[in-house]
Amino acid sequence: MKVTINAEKCQGHGRCFSIAPNLFDCDDLGNGFVIGDGTLSADTIEVARLCQANCPEHAIDIEE
Ligand code: F3S
Repeated sequence: MKVTINAEKCQGHGRCFSIAPNLFDCDDLGNGFVIGDGTLSADTIEVARLCQANCPEHAIDIEE
């Protein structure tokens, strides 16, 4: 499974990198991006889903 952020939807609300700084970081504009290639492990799937549910712009996608 893999997590991605849709840069066109992201408005920099910052919940993703606040909740999971191990999965997400922000650029100079405050917009979130995925650290590394976004591959999720058994340990990170749940927190990635939490971030997805908390993004007001629905910018976070999780692919099976
Ligand atoms: Fe962007 Fe959503 Fe994170 S708007 S900064 S992907 S919480």
